[in-house]
Amino acid sequence: MSSNEIREKYLNFFKERVHNIIPSSSLVPENDPTTLFVGSGMQPLIPYLLGQKHPMGSRLVNSQKSFRADDIEEIGDNRHTTFFEMLGNWSLGDYFKEEQLSWIFSFLVDELGLPPENLYMTVFLGDKENNIPKDEESIGILKRLFQEKGIEAKDIELGSEEVGYEKGMQGGRIFAYGSKKNWWSRAGIPSNMPTGEPGGPDSEIFFDFGTPHNEAFGKQCHPNCDCGRFMEIGNSVFMEYKKKEDGSFEKLAQRNVDFGGGLERITAAVNKDADVFKINTLFAVITKIEELSSKKYEDNITSFRIVADHIRGAAFMIGDSVLPSNTERGYFVRRLVRRAVRHADIIEMKEGALALLVEPLIAAYEGSYLELEDQKEEIEKNIQEEEERFRLTLKKGLKEFEKISSRNITGKEAFDLYQTYGFPLDITLELAKEKGVLVDTISFQEEFAAHQEISRTAAAGRFKGGLADASYATTKLHTANHLLLAALREVLGDHVHQRGSNITQERIRLDFSQPQKVTPEQVQEVENLVNVKIQENLKMVKEEMTKEEAVKLGAEMEFGIKYGDIVSVYVLKDEKGNAFSKEFCGGPHVQNTSELSQFEIIKEEAVSTGVRRIRAVLKAE
Ligand code: ALA
Repeated sequence: MSSNEIREKYLNFFKERVHNIIPSSSLVPENDPTTLFVGSGMQPLIPYLLGQKHPMGSRLVNSQKSFRADDIEEIGDNRHTTFFEMLGNWSLGDYFKEEQLSWIFSFLVDELGLPPENLYMTVFLGDKENNIPKDEESIGILKRLFQEKGIEAKDIELGSEEVGYEKGMQGGRIFAYGSKKNWWSRAGIPSNMPTGEPGGPDSEIFFDFGTPHNEAFGKQCHPNCDCGRFMEIGNSVFMEYKKKEDGSFEKLAQRNVDFGGGLERITAAVNKDADVFKINTLFAVITKIEELSSKKYEDNITSFRIVADHIRGAAFMIGDSVLPSNTERGYFVRRLVRRAVRHADIIEMKEGALALLVEPLIAAYEGSYLELEDQKEEIEKNIQEEEERFRLTLKKGLKEFEKISSRNITGKEAFDLYQTYGFPLDITLELAKEKGVLVDTISFQEEFAAHQEISRTAAAGRFKGGLADASYATTKLHTANHLLLAALREVLGDHVHQRGSNITQERIRLDFSQPQKVTPEQVQEVENLVNVKIQENLKMVKEEMTKEEAVKLGAEMEFGIKYGDIVSVYVLKDEKGNAFSKEFCGGPHVQNTSELSQFEIIKEEAVSTGVRRIRAVLKAE
């Protein structure tokens, strides 16, 4: 079965159970300054999990493009990929454990035909410190589901991985683990969660591929063992808690379900082959690499997997307008392509051949992601050019590496390889590993930070599945961002549209389309207009309507973002009801511009052809 068929079946299965299908969001999070990439389907839904009404209702389903930068180094085994699709269904204060566990079990077993005897489940053991009880309800439901398939499901308390490795399966089918394994929030375990962050106990689904246990991982095997026998294919999070100011937990106003399932892994389970690179989408690329390299996948597994994973990741990123560069997100695309170049050389692909992988990749998705088809040439061109750029310095860099690698590599040397020869740290680390020498990554990071160039990216916390920041400061700036866009359109003309925005607690960064320079007088005029509007006490009103109606109304939408059929439009209105700004938007916003302090534009500059950028702040009161 192909992943396209499984995606379709999943969406239909939940549609039949009265869910609305929402489009995948871009890999670039909107209005979430704390995380670089969308890494799970729930990320764009945070405001709704916290209680805001979703325009598409309380039952949602989709397949979300996801990218986990943390996994770059894991690529090479049979199941990790940087880019993946996450099948997700959500109950926003609607159904709960009974429906979720029964439906997902039925989808896997009845719809996809996975043998129930190959499925193992985990549940939350409870957390005494935070007063959160063991999930007995899920255990009861799961026992019944297995029973209905003629399987006696024994439940076992393991608690931690360490105990799992010591005690093993013990004839169990349902395993209870503590917070490290069966609690889910974007920040991980309860003690890492910031105030206001939602989370909850979860129940994971593991598929048993039946491969023998490898004792290198631990004495005994258990569902969370990393030996490769068990693969996690899905996770139902029962998101009903929120962290309070004093560190304790309270129930959210609504009980939510957040399910996430790895489409590639589910496809691998259905096809009974634990290698996710054998599923249609990735194997189309692997096959093309075989053709272009005259090598066999089986003989060069690691390099083939790295090339296939990285080119797919880069293609989806470029499809979402993230281009290779030295800043923030763009640097990940650069790393992906450059590492792919090195591995393409190892398997003796021809120079410049990486871009040829784009066509079979896109074809394998069979139209599921139109942005790939729409931007095929752009994707090929960017991969091609990035390969060429890297090749200008790659050979010299490798020579330099040879010279210095007879001993451990200092941070300064690693930094020079980066700065002079364009070697991302991953490549230096990989080369060092092959040589059996070490790299001083700490002093590399210091060098790096000292040079400031991509210091934000270097702040590792930033892309460790960050935290949405719905703080008041950010919310105020978000409303100011709407005022700014409307003021730009009024002063410069209707050709101005938003091309990107990034809002932190400190500032707005708005990219907008504008072919000409903006004069200092115009900048001043825009700033003044925003301040006038702040003083007019405009009300922010949220209106829900069909996408067509919103377009008719002239609501501003950002280029490159996909919207569902029903959208919310935020309108800033004066007392008489005259609208100054109308934007497609998911919130959050303040209720009235009177809540904003004085607005100031800090900087106005060009970022690329036809696109300019403004940084602005609200002054401290
Ligand atoms: N949000 C949950 C996860 O990513 C479903 O595992």
